[in-house]
Amino acid sequence: MIAIYPGSFDPPTNGHLDLIERGSHIFDELVVAILRNAEKSPLFSVAERRQMLEDLTGRFANVRVDTFDGLTVEYATRMKARVVLRGIRAISDYEYELQMALMNRKLQPRLETVFMMPAEQYSYLSSRLVREVAQLGGSIQDLVPDTVERELKKKLDPAIRRQYARKPKAGRRV
Ligand code: PNS
Repeated sequence: MIAIYPGSFDPPTNGHLDLIERGSHIFDELVVAILRNAEKSPLFSVAERRQMLEDLTGRFANVRVDTFDGLTVEYATRMKARVVLRGIRAISDYEYELQMALMNRKLQPRLETVFMMPAEQYSYLSSRLVREVAQLGGSIQDLVPDTVERELKKKLDPAIRRQYARKPKAGRRV
């Protein structure tokens, strides 16, 4: 049984990873699918998000990372997926997720949405809040994997940004 786990992942959080791990135990194959959405102005490019997710999920043999645009249901059909995996953290997620699940069902009745709950310590965690806290200089330790924390610092810390800007492209990164 193939499942897709679609989302923006800007950036991937520990909550996403928790869900990916849970999904990998249930489905034969899990495709983490990053939406390429030209309308949004993301913090990380699709290529950066893909690289981070590939690094983070490399240890799961049945998980792979892909990108898509257009309708999720059409992508799922192309991937021969029977399931769309989504995480539900709190009641506040439910309305939006229910709407999406029912719209997807209307568009493709054979595709099921399966909701899973991340571990409770991630129940308040979202990429948007992580971006906001990081942008305002707060600690995001324990909220995102170390590699993502480093990438966020590179993007957002002006001192580190300047340091990277000064380095020649082929130079060694520290
Ligand atoms: O991580 P997000 O931003 O909550 O993920 C939202 C996502 C990517 C699942 C949703 O926006 C989506 O499925 N977009 C693709 C376009 C589509 O199929 N729209 C109709 C959904 S009902």
